[in-house]
Amino acid sequence: MQFPIFQTPYLGNGMTIALDAVPHVIISHGLAIGAITLIVISEYFGFRKSSREWEAFAKEFLRFTIIITTGLGAITGVGIWLITSALSPRGIGSLLRIFFWPWFAEWIAFTLEVIVILIYYFTWDTWTGEKKKQHIYLGASYIVFSLSSAFLITGILGFMLTPDGWPWDKSFWSAFFNPSFLPQLLLRVSMAFALGAIFSVAFLFATRRESAFRKEALRFFGKVSSISFSATGIFSWWYFTVVPSAFKTHAIFSVLTSRFSQHPEIFYGINAAGIFMLFLFALFGLRGAVFLSRILIIPVLLVSMSFVMEFERVREFIRGPYLLPGYMYANQVLLKEVPLLDKAGMLKNSYWYNMTTHGPDPINQGAYLFAENCSMCHTIGGVNDIKERVKGRTEDGIFVILGHTQDMVPFMPPFSGTDQERRIMAGFLHQLANGKIILGASSRFAPLRGGEK
Ligand code: HEC
Repeated sequence: MQFPIFQTPYLGNGMTIALDAVPHVIISHGLAIGAITLIVISEYFGFRKSSREWEAFAKEFLRFTIIITTGLGAITGVGIWLITSALSPRGIGSLLRIFFWPWFAEWIAFTLEVIVILIYYFTWDTWTGEKKKQHIYLGASYIVFSLSSAFLITGILGFMLTPDGWPWDKSFWSAFFNPSFLPQLLLRVSMAFALGAIFSVAFLFATRRESAFRKEALRFFGKVSSISFSATGIFSWWYFTVVPSAFKTHAIFSVLTSRFSQHPEIFYGINAAGIFMLFLFALFGLRGAVFLSRILIIPVLLVSMSFVMEFERVREFIRGPYLLPGYMYANQVLLKEVPLLDKAGMLKNSYWYNMTTHGPDPINQGAYLFAENCSMCHTIGGVNDIKERVKGRTEDGIFVILGHTQDMVPFMPPFSGTDQERRIMAGFLHQLANGKIILGASSRFAPLRGGEK
């Protein structure tokens, strides 16, 4: 089955997915796993120490967390499905064929999570006294479901970077329990607690004035911070040791882009400063230093979320020319299709091109070839603008480049299509870069109207 192509103007497809997926990761890890686990522990403290403050803190923080997780968390989660199935339908379709059952199980786990957390919240004031213990167990069962979600999804995410033997043996089990599965799962869980502790401290400062409780709670979250920050560091290191070195070499570039990639010291400097700030925060927490922790809380929130963004960016970027290594390129062309497309042609074999455009107009053809081959990562006039990339080159120069995209930068896939199509696209890009084609807003999938000379 052939899917239509969508391109997000200006932002680009990759950035569109990231703008939804990164907030989802922050909420699902930091709040749905991290913060709610700490809430259940806080409730337990309230019970064990007969402390009203812990009890009230847990309940209020739960209300806030539930609103965000069942609202924004769920919507951004569904958003990932919506966006990826529009922008990357072949990729998500292939993943579904391999991982149908884990995703099915994950759907059940997610539904149970929502049901349990709502019951947990609405029985807070009724399951008291004798039933308080059961209420805490109910909270604990939520944690089990949310961790099982993380378990199921991480198998799929790990596969997209380290598919192991799957391209050859097509074995489900080697695909799911791939080499980066375990380190990534442990990394994500520690990340969840790290974010959870930071969010808890932020909520504590935002809502609590009473100084003895504030100090006591801060000390506890300081402990959680120091353990989870250290664990995140250790598991990141483990994770990156199992990532193939061919991918790892792109890590710094993925963060700095070509503009700064010749200055890796920027990458190391900024990361080291961020890590230092997080550990300082953990240390202040451990010592119960309310004033100093308060100064740091907003920068620490920003730094921790930036680390999540960086991690996801690196993970998604470094698998380079592939969407599914060994099987599918980032532009959704299968590795094994390339020889066919090079020989028989991309346009002739495209259902959507033949259905929606009007004959052999070289501009439409060029735009379509660009959309198929390059639009996953390049836009026209926006992020990673293709015009900038080919500017100043002759049409023949672009023609040659199109035959060598995979050699120019190691994370670009090859152009798929015949030499004649390569010629058509070179002409299109050349005109585009020289301002001879004007973009129109109303065009369908090729973001282009007309060919004013
Ligand atoms: C997997 C994503 C991806 C795909 C698909 C992709 N590119 Fe790129 N391309 C990049 C990135 C990332 C850069 C580097 C951007 C930067 O300079 O920061 C780049 C850079 C380039 C450059 C400049 C290279 C240089 O060293 O000067 C050209 C030219 C280019 N791309 C053309 C293409 C063409 C043509 C296609 C389609 C056949 C394509 N790319 C497909 C990601 C991609």
